[in-house]
Amino acid sequence: MNLPNPFITFFLCFSILLSPDFPIQSSCFRKMRSPVIRLPNTKSNHHLFDPSRVTQISRRPRAFLYMNFLTDEECDHLIQLAKDKLQKSMVADTRSGKSIESTVRTSKGMFIRKAQDEVVAGIESRISVWTFLPVENGEAIQVLHYENGQKYLPHWDYFHDKANQALGGHRTATVLMYLSNVNKGGETIFPHSEMKESQIKTDEDSECAKKGYAVKPKKGDALLFFSLHPNATIDPTSLHGSCPVIEGEKWVATKWIHVRSFERRRVRAGKNERLQGGKSQSS
Ligand SMILES: *[C@@H]1O[C@H](CO)[C@@H](O)[C@H](O)[C@H]1NC(C)=O
Repeated sequence: MNLPNPFITFFLCFSILLSPDFPIQSSCFRKMRSPVIRLPNTKSNHHLFDPSRVTQISRRPRAFLYMNFLTDEECDHLIQLAKDKLQKSMVADTRSGKSIESTVRTSKGMFIRKAQDEVVAGIESRISVWTFLPVENGEAIQVLHYENGQKYLPHWDYFHDKANQALGGHRTATVLMYLSNVNKGGETIFPHSEMKESQIKTDEDSECAKKGYAVKPKKGDALLFFSLHPNATIDPTSLHGSCPVIEGEKWVATKWIHVRSFERRRVRAGKNERLQGGKSQSS
């Protein structure tokens, strides 16, 4: 029998990776189905990274969907942590950057402390492996709850004001993890996606979902999209929103990732101690 030469397989995969039209769900990855990267604090098989479950859904904006990124247990765990601590979601005021209430965003939410427990830390390191972006560039995970018509009108995740860029700079990427299924509505839409016309809509989709490229929430799936182009300028096609929930409820967890560290830790820089991230802190 003629066994395939592993070097040739690797070389072929590598060349496909280099081609500009590389579809992520290539047969190459399907052949190498076994997990490629093992993460720290790996106890069970769940903490694995499997690129064959990732599909690129849009180039403008750059958006990717990872099927079953979280296990059901991880989803339920995040909901449990958040459930009793939800507060009305706020938005950043375009001019001052201050957190304000708004009819644009009607969900409730809360932040889960970074690496709060092993499950959270595991999810955070897996996000870092997937996005190739450092854990310290991430904000704390925010868990959001939408029900009965609650929504988030289309918006950008990059900030318009300087105050919000002081720590960590621009947000470059967003990972949205769906923690529940939604019977009807609650889709994530990209109204400016180049793929919006080519997506076939069905009766399952809400009216709102028809106004852009829509991602239907599925428990455990994760959506990654970039708010900045690779050359670090803002990408206006990253406009996105959460369609009103029509039936059922929607739970999502969001990880925003910045271009620099988002941690206010003191770091030693030669003789002088300086603050990482720019904003001063009292301690
Ligand atoms: C950055 O990249 C985007 C997308 O490719 C392009 O439209 C834009 O002109 C670029 N800007 C600069 C300053 O290179």
